[in-house]
Amino acid sequence: MEYRFSGHSGLQLPLVSLGLWHNFGSEDPFDVARDMLLHAWDRGVTHFDIANNYGPAPGTAEMTFGKVLREDLAAHRDEMIISSKAGYWMWDGPYGDGGSRKYLISSCDQSLRRTGLEYFDIFYSHRYDPNTPIEETMQALVDIVRAGKALYAGISNYPADKQQECYNYLREAHVPCVIGQYKANIAYKETLEQNLPVAQANGSGFICFSPLAQGLLTNRYLNGIPTGSRASKNVFLRPEQVTPEAIANAQRLGAIAAERGQSLAQMAIAWLLAKNVTSVIVGASSVAQLEDNINAIHNITFSEEELRAIESIKWA
Ligand SMILES: NC(=O)c1ccc[n+]([C@@H]2O[C@H](COP(=O)([O-])OP(=O)(O)OC[C@H]3O[C@@H](n4cnc5c(N)ncnc54)[C@H](OP(=O)(O)O)[C@@H]3O)[C@@H](O)[C@H]2O)c1
Repeated sequence: MEYRFSGHSGLQLPLVSLGLWHNFGSEDPFDVARDMLLHAWDRGVTHFDIANNYGPAPGTAEMTFGKVLREDLAAHRDEMIISSKAGYWMWDGPYGDGGSRKYLISSCDQSLRRTGLEYFDIFYSHRYDPNTPIEETMQALVDIVRAGKALYAGISNYPADKQQECYNYLREAHVPCVIGQYKANIAYKETLEQNLPVAQANGSGFICFSPLAQGLLTNRYLNGIPTGSRASKNVFLRPEQVTPEAIANAQRLGAIAAERGQSLAQMAIAWLLAKNVTSVIVGASSVAQLEDNINAIHNITFSEEELRAIESIKWA
C-alpha cells in the first residue's frame, strides 16, 4: 500500500480506505464484516471511515468496528486512522441532527462509547447546516480536538463557499481542517471541479466517497439486480437508478478497463487517484470485492486517450 499526505498536514492516508456505511451493521453478518476489516488491515488499509448513523441500525457499524478492534486488532490501535462524523439525523428531537454544538459534542461522546475508543483520529462535521452558524459548528470541532476526543478535524459535503469559511475558521483556531470528504466518481465529477481546488488551495486533504457510484461502476448490475445487492435493498441506491443507459455506460467503461488489464471497479478507483485526491473510501460487501478494489493501486496512471474516452461518457 502507498500512503499520501493529507494536504499540508503530517497525516498520511492509504490510497484505498475502507468505509463502513453499509454491510457492517447489526443486520449484516458479523463474520463477513470482521473478515473484511481484517483483510483490509492485512493489505495495508490503515484508515477506517465510520459515522454515528452507519448501520443499519444506526450506531451499529461503530459497535461492529469496536468489537473487531477489541477482539482482533487492539494491539494495532496506534497504527490506524479511525474517523467518525455527526451531521445527519441520529436521534429524535432538536439535538440529534444538524450542526449544533450540542449535537456534535453529544454525538462524538456516544460514538466513542459505541466503539470503545478513547479518541477518534478524525472527527467530521458530516454536512453543512444552514440553520446553525458555521462558527458554532467549527468551534465544536475545535473543542472536540482540544478535549482530546479527536486528533484532527474534518468537514464533509460542504458547498465550496462554506468550505472556505471552515478552512478560515479552523486555521485561525490552530486546528486546521485536515481533510474534506466528498462524493466523487466517474459518473459524478462536480466535487472534483468545485471542492477539490478549494481544498488544494488551502493545503487541506480531499477524500472521495462512493467511488463506485454504490456499485454502478462495477460489473454488479450488468445482468440485472442481484439479491442482496444495495439496489435490491432499495434504500440509497434505488432500482430505478440502474437504468439501461447506466448499464451501457458501465459496459463501455468495462471495455476500457479490460484493455488496461483492470476490472471496472479498479479503473474507477484508479481514475480518482489519478486526480491527485488524498485517498478513496471504498465500500464492499465481501472480501472478494474488497480485494478487487485494493488491487486498483497497481495501475493508477492513464493516457490522454484513455482519459478522453472515460470522461466523454455522458451520465444522466
Ligand atoms: N460523508 C458522507 O456523506 C458519505 C456518504 C456516503 C459514503 N461515505 C463513505 O464512503 C464509503 C464508501 O461509500 P459507498 O459504499 O457508497 O462506496 P462504493 O465503493 O461506491 O460502493 C460500494 C458498493 O459497491 C459494490 N461493490 C464494491 N466493490 C465491488 C466490486 N469490486 N465489484 C462489484 N461490486 C462492488 C458493493 O455493493 P453491494 O453491497 O450491492 O455488493 C458495495 O457495497 C462509505 O462506507 C462511507 O464510509 C461517506
